[in-house]
Amino acid sequence: MSAFWMPFTANRQFKKSPRMFVGAEGMYYKTSDGREVLDGTAGLWCCNAGHCRPKITEAIRKQAAELDYAPAFQMGHPKAFELASAVRDMAPEGMEHVFFTNSGSESVETALKIAIAFHRARGEGARTRLIGRERGYHGVNFGGISVGGMVNNRKMFGTLLAGVDHLPHTHLPAQNAFTRGQPEHGAYLADDLERIVALHGAETIAAVIVEPMAGSTGVLMPPRGYLEKLREICTKHGILLIFDEVITGFGRLGSAFAADHFGVLPDMMTVAKGLTNGVIPMGAVLTTAAIHDAFMQGPEHLIELFHGYTYSGNPIASAAGLATLETYREEGLFENAARLAPCWEDALHSLKGLPHVIDIRNMGLIGAVELEPIAGEPTKRAFTAFLNAYEAGLLIRTTGDIIALSPPLMIDGAQIDELFGKLSAGLKALD
Ligand SMILES: Cc1ncc(COP(=O)(O)O)c(C=O)c1O
Repeated sequence: MSAFWMPFTANRQFKKSPRMFVGAEGMYYKTSDGREVLDGTAGLWCCNAGHCRPKITEAIRKQAAELDYAPAFQMGHPKAFELASAVRDMAPEGMEHVFFTNSGSESVETALKIAIAFHRARGEGARTRLIGRERGYHGVNFGGISVGGMVNNRKMFGTLLAGVDHLPHTHLPAQNAFTRGQPEHGAYLADDLERIVALHGAETIAAVIVEPMAGSTGVLMPPRGYLEKLREICTKHGILLIFDEVITGFGRLGSAFAADHFGVLPDMMTVAKGLTNGVIPMGAVLTTAAIHDAFMQGPEHLIELFHGYTYSGNPIASAAGLATLETYREEGLFENAARLAPCWEDALHSLKGLPHVIDIRNMGLIGAVELEPIAGEPTKRAFTAFLNAYEAGLLIRTTGDIIALSPPLMIDGAQIDELFGKLSAGLKALD
């Protein structure tokens, strides 16, 4: 066991008492000791269509036998073009172009680079500053942790990117605790962008990046009017607005994207996870025509953007992506998420009043239960809840002392009951 240095894992503890999945189907994982575990987190917020779905499995099998790999630079293959069109067709109107990456982290780096290069291409090369938000999660590469705002992901790694500022986070438990859906209070927090603009000058700022709904930090909803305000201030000052939709993309909120759900159109969107149902690593950056077209200048034989990955638009990932989007459409999974959202909300909020529960938040098929930390031992209570749930046959995810829930969108009412039954039993057993 010692060879594998596991990511974002308490390695020594895990290896003393491993939790191993050996199979999966639909809504359930199968453990190495033969138990079924209900997937309350769609893997890592990515298996939106559930597990081992035949159409996706078959598409991968077929593509691997037909065209396994094609060079990503100066060569093409049909499926990457088909998938880019399919993503564009599913995306909010105005998102016209798709740049493929292999993960959410790479999508973020790509979007930040495109933002800076876009301004430069238009003769505004002084726009290099990037603005993120406290408690933001934008993956683990240097750009992403620089604009991100989760302290443990940043503090070990030195000085990070220069020229980055952060908006305040939007978690206001004193005013908004136990809100169903979007909280009332906090739109004013977007005004902080005006303060940053006044400090540095708009002409130095390239982009603002936020998760429209912050997932990894523990599911924080945007207050009513907040995203609209950010959009307005960015537009006013010529700053690009990037929505990191790595979690919210592909149906999580009951709409294809959070941009649709909130009716706010960014200039770029980063996606990954649900793009291929998590089955093959793939991400993408979606941009407006204005951004793309700014690069399409100069002699046609010259490369317009010096950026890309060996696996950008990989054939097998593209095939998986196409089959995934078809599965979402054919099975009406985004609609299922929207239809079940009220029942999900009721079941989740029924946990109010259980010991240690200090807040509950929800939207679409996503939810969070925040627990009071044990004094002097942060994270321990939620991690015990995670272990209790796992023993009871339920996979949840914890971050700090917050439990995050985001099941595959194929979930049904009985499985929602099963999920919350197991979760509440585990919560009642906490010290
Ligand atoms: C909003 C957001 N951005 C970026 C990432 C990073 O994605 P990946 O782990 O695929 O690099 C994540 C992962 O959870 C995410 O939630």
